[in-house]
Order: sequence, then structure tokens, then C-alpha cells
Amino acid sequence: MAKKKQSEKDRVIIFDTTLRDGEQSPGATMTVNEKLQVAQQLARLNVDVIEAGFPFASPGDFEAVQLISRHVHGPTIAGLCRTEKADIERAWNAVKDADRNRLHTFIATSPIHMKKKLGKTPKQVVKMAQDAVARCRRFTDNVEFSCEDATRSELDFLCEIVEKAIDAGATTINIPDTVGYAMPQEFIVMLRELISKVPNSNKAIFSTHCHNDLGLAVANSLAAIVSGARQVECTINGLGERAGNASLEEIVMALRTRPDIMKPWTGIVTTEIYRTSRLVARVTGINVQPNKAIVGSNAFAHEAGIHQDGMLKDKRTYEIMDADSIGLSKSNLVLGKHSGRHAFIDKLNEIGYELDSAQINKAFAEFKNLCDKKKAVSDHDIMSIVEDEIMHIPETFKLISVNVMCGGRVKATAMIEMYVGDSKVEEAAIGVGPVDSVYQCIRKITGEDIQLVDFSVKSVTGGIDAIGEVTVRIAGDDKNIFTGKGGSVDIIEASAKAYTTAINKMIFWRENENRREADSGKTPEKKSAKKKKTKKKTKKAGAKAKK
Ligand code: KIV
Ligand code: ZN
Repeated sequence: MAKKKQSEKDRVIIFDTTLRDGEQSPGATMTVNEKLQVAQQLARLNVDVIEAGFPFASPGDFEAVQLISRHVHGPTIAGLCRTEKADIERAWNAVKDADRNRLHTFIATSPIHMKKKLGKTPKQVVKMAQDAVARCRRFTDNVEFSCEDATRSELDFLCEIVEKAIDAGATTINIPDTVGYAMPQEFIVMLRELISKVPNSNKAIFSTHCHNDLGLAVANSLAAIVSGARQVECTINGLGERAGNASLEEIVMALRTRPDIMKPWTGIVTTEIYRTSRLVARVTGINVQPNKAIVGSNAFAHEAGIHQDGMLKDKRTYEIMDADSIGLSKSNLVLGKHSGRHAFIDKLNEIGYELDSAQINKAFAEFKNLCDKKKAVSDHDIMSIVEDEIMHIPETFKLISVNVMCGGRVKATAMIEMYVGDSKVEEAAIGVGPVDSVYQCIRKITGEDIQLVDFSVKSVTGGIDAIGEVTVRIAGDDKNIFTGKGGSVDIIEASAKAYTTAINKMIFWRENENRREADSGKTPEKKSAKKKKTKKKTKKAGAKAKK
């Protein structure tokens, strides 16, 4: 397909909200460092705006937004805030150090939200919106205003509030389909009318933010673009509240694949899509369904004989996009035990990872370990090693060895050796199966009372010596969910690694929460009780270590 000339007026701003709305997905809790890793990858993907979080929501959110603002260069960093003064000030303090920042303030505009949720009249809501935008403008000239639940709002009221928000200084107006209710044909008309009726609409960029409750988030986002929206808010892998948000990769690739009927374009470096999707899946523990468009493992697989025959004759018979265009490397250049450090570094560069020398050393050592177990190490294996390495979760508990006896009439029995800090600890436990016995053992060593919420295994590469990747989701006593992944050619070992990683993450999280509370001088009774509990647990694990 011949490439058409791209004009600036058709550039669609990609506003990524994986770290804010995406993080609101049940169980998608990320540590501050994981959020930073994701933000750095989003910068490589070249998104225009990163909504890094909702700083007023918690000290952890504030810290993540501030860290991202200070360390991620390229994209504009946005902080979400409601219309209240304290909310706006907190968001500003979190984003003020970014090279480019944005305040994103919102209020609900639908009759049901105004009446039932806010208990405000439409007149009061308009005033709150105007005041909030004006307050944001005192800090920055990049202000976005969102009409929450816009698609269930009355058009005349929307026109009024949007006009006043623009007058107050909003530079982006976002029209969200908050509950995923709109139909594309209806959304096209609504947005077109809104833009044409608002007298000062030329002073702002119109945006949309669609949820996927009816599976129409991407279709509605494209419909908004047809009507003149030049910003879309979306997430990697379509993460987000309930059924999720519009998926970034689907919108971007739809525009890229059909320039013949849609002139709008994005500045996304599409070859970073696959890597970004993997990273987000890894840190959130929410795997992508195999048949997910663009990034699912089957998206470029052709099983049926008739398809394979066509593909061999000409790829375009069944493939509308090239797998290379999303960075799905097809290089089969595998490494093995004779590959040296140079070859390993070359491979890292080829698949696009930049590691510092300490990280390279650790990753190389892991690679050599893997070579002892596996003849041919593929790109996917290396991605797994590197993703583990860049997460930097401190290892309070470090696995040394896992042994299990099971099968037939033998009761599954695990024996585990672990470092708890600097001390070596050994434990044994019996379980209903091999994984259960391993998990009982780890619980005994760590002294943590954990509930296993989810457990899944998948093979990272093909073949009998494929790495099995286990993902677990656990809930601690405060009911927060933490994920851990572990890879090994031995699935039981991978299961132990995943569980230990999730526990380390939970402890790291808890320690950070305690530190943030101490820093902010907040020690409510409930929290200090929790702190005592943490101390008691660490003591318990330490006592075991001395045995
Ligand atoms: O879904 C929604 O309306 C939102 C707003 C805060 C933009 O997430
Ligand atoms: Zn949303």
C-alpha cells in the first residue's frame, strides 16, 4: 500500500494511561520501580503523553508519578486530579519536575453521576470545572479537562461545560466513554456535533477515552478520530477498569494498516509494541489472551493448511501486517553454551535491551546457567532473563534449591533450601501435589500467610526443553494482590521461583508503604498494627534462619 503524505493536523496524540487506568485493573498492582520500567519503555515506544498515576490516591501513587517525572524524558507526564484544590496541588507537586508536564482534571457530567455520585446540580458542576481548570492553569499551560461519563451526558450540557472549560484555559478536552456504553455510529455523530457547536472548540484538542464493556473501545476510539479527535487515551494490552480501556496497539496498528481510508497517523515506534506488551504483562501478571489482536501469541500464527499454502506463495494472502512491524523478531539466530559475552551483548542490542554493566553481568550469568540446561537459547528465553533482571525486587528470600518426591503412592514431599537474608534455611513439607508441597515449604520458611489467587503455566518457547513460565498471583493479609513470574525448564522450580518473587514483591511493597507512611507522619492505629505484624513476621523468618 502506497504511503500517503502525513500532515501535522492529522497527527493523533497517543495518551497512554496504562499506569493510571490500567493499574486500576483488579490485581494489576505494580511497584514504584516496575512503574518506572514501564514508563521508560513507553518512552521508547514514543507515546506522546504518559498518565503516570493519580497522585492524591496514595503516597505510592505520588511517589511513582514524581519518580517518572524526574527520570523519564521525551513524553509529557500527566497527573490525574479531581477538581478539589488539594487534589490539584498534589498532582502538580508530583509532575512539576517533568521536562513537560500536564494536569488532567475531571468531573462527572452525566445526570446520574452528578445527582447520585456527586450530589451536585449541573450549575455547581460547571463552576467546579471552571475553577479547577483555572487553578491548574496557575501551575501549567498544559491542562486537560475530562467530562466523566460524557457519553451518557446531555449534549447541550456538554457543550456548555466544554466551552467554559476552554475559556478557563483547558487545552485538551477529553470526552470519555466511561462505562463503555457508546456505539461507534452514535459516537461519530455526538462528537462531530459537540465540536461544531462549541464556539471556541478550535482552541483545544479533542480527545477520547473509551472503556471496553461492550468490546467497542477501539471501534469507538477510531470513530472519535473520524469525527476530529486528535488524542486517544489507551492502554497497553487494553488493561483498565472492568473490561479495560481501548488497546493502544490495536488503535495504532489499525491506523497504520489502513491509511487508504484513514489519514490520521501516530508517532508510535511500532517495532516496540511487542516488547512493551510483554513487559506490561510481566509486571502486572495479567497475561494476554492468545487470540488477542496484534500481541496475542496466535496473532501471527497460521495453522490451517490452506492458509500456510497461501502464506508460502505470498505472505499478503493472509497477513495484513508484518510481524516485524510490531517488533516480533523472527530471527532464529539462537545462542548456546559456546556463545560468549560479546555474542550475548550483540543479541541484547538486537532485541533492543539497554542494560548497564552490572545488569549485563547478572543476565549473562543467568544465560550461562540456562545453557547448562538447554542447548539452544532463543530470543524469548533471553527476554525472560532480562525482564527478571530489570525488575530489581530486593530478594528478602532467595531460592537455593528445590527437590520434590512425588508420583504413584508417594505423598508429595518438598525440600527447599533458601537464603533468608544471609542465612541458609532448609525446610520440608508434605502437600497434596508437588506444587502444593513446595508452596507449603516456602510459607513455612517465610512465615507469610498467603492466599494463592491464581496460578498458570505456559511454555515460553517450543520444544521438549522449552522454558516453562509460571505466573502466580497471591494475596497477603491486607488483600493486596502481587504477581510473580518464574521461568525454568523444570516447572516445579519455575513455580517456586514465581511464588518467591511474588512474596519478595509483597514484602518490598509493604516496607515501602511503611516508609511512606512514616515519611508523611501518618501512623493511623490500623496501620501501626499492620507494621507490628510485619516486624513479627520478619522476626519469625529470621528465627527459623538461626535454627
Ligand atoms: O473513564 C473515565 O472517565 C476516566 C476519566 C478519569 C478520564 O478514567
Ligand atoms: Zn477510564
